[in-house]
Amino acid sequence: MIELSHISKTYIAPDKNVVALEDVNIRVEAGQVYGIVGYSGAGKSTLVRCINFLERPDAGSIRIDGFGTIEVRDGNAFYTPESGGQSVRLTEKHLKTLRRDLGMIFQHFNLLDRDTVFDNIAYPLKYTGRSKEEIRARVLELLDLVDLRDKVNAYPSELSGGQKQRVAIARALANNPKILLSDEATSALDPDATESILKLLKDLNRKLNLTIVLITHEMAVVKSICDRVAVMEDGHVVEEGDVYEVFSNPQQPITKKFVNTSSGMGQINRLIRENSSVLDTDATLVQCTFSKDSVGEALVSDVSRRFGVNVNIILGNVELLRGNPLGGLVVLIDGEEEKRRAVIEYLRAHDVRVEVIARG
Ligand SMILES: Nc1ncnc2c1ncn2[C@@H]1O[C@H](COP(=O)(O)OP(=O)(O)O)[C@@H](O)[C@H]1O
Ligand SMILES: [Mg+2]
Repeated sequence: MIELSHISKTYIAPDKNVVALEDVNIRVEAGQVYGIVGYSGAGKSTLVRCINFLERPDAGSIRIDGFGTIEVRDGNAFYTPESGGQSVRLTEKHLKTLRRDLGMIFQHFNLLDRDTVFDNIAYPLKYTGRSKEEIRARVLELLDLVDLRDKVNAYPSELSGGQKQRVAIARALANNPKILLSDEATSALDPDATESILKLLKDLNRKLNLTIVLITHEMAVVKSICDRVAVMEDGHVVEEGDVYEVFSNPQQPITKKFVNTSSGMGQINRLIRENSSVLDTDATLVQCTFSKDSVGEALVSDVSRRFGVNVNIILGNVELLRGNPLGGLVVLIDGEEEKRRAVIEYLRAHDVRVEVIARG
């Protein structure tokens, strides 16, 4: 388990200070794939770097199972062992212990270009008391894990982006960390490579019970492998929850925007902006979200029959999210004012989330 409590961080610069994190609280259970999503500059990288203390928070505490707690008070960092006991000044030795349990991968892989795949992966195994033979065996084992054995003697320049990220993953896992921190690991990859890396991360999560904290600016990535998600904006976590819950019932404007972009429902804004003739009507424009409890019902034809209104579908999307169906529809409801209102009430009573975009 990882628990971040009241983490704050301001970058001090001569011209202006930047508040990167303000009172951030996050709890990641062991074995989870935990997504942190937000636009560029939201504070995601700063937050994940606070977990392994690559970035030192100004205040707050970080508790990690099997390690203990680091707390920053008045600019000083203290370490308390898991067993409790005296808290002491944080030392490099504590940080070394902490980082042994935390692997990290990055958007641009951070491989050593002059070293072969073998040497890149062997690097963190040096100075761990292992013999040459043990290191060789471990590197080959890691290459099998990421399915890249045939590239053992290749140089990074000879690899595709996806293959480079596999090398980086193998290197990050060399010393058997329990947690992998991933900062935009698929953001530089094409869609196919992205999919294969996400699949690999999910496999590693299952096979090794690896906890993964995954930072991304793409909701599609969250959808594909995360169990929970935190949405960040301006240094704050503004929304947090189970992935299906967040996608089926987003609360904050920024979360709605992310969700609508990834489902395609956001395209309605373009139609509105461009004064599309499709919307040239005085019908009521609504967005409906059908979740587990409502998706199976033929509600659209049901309401048109029941209330004698016209329901005209503008956009539609149904997907499986973590094994459960999630549907979105943007529709125009035309008919007497009272009936339109009755339709919306009826849908809401049947577990459909209805948002009125324009009254018509
Ligand atoms: N080393 C730094 N010095 C000054 N400001 C920084 C530094 N690193 C990040 N920032 C600023 O902190 C904010 C959060 O950045 P970051 O954590 O990288 O966000 P994200 O990863 O979500 O894009 C941004 O405004 C960024 O410009
Ligand atoms: Mg970042």
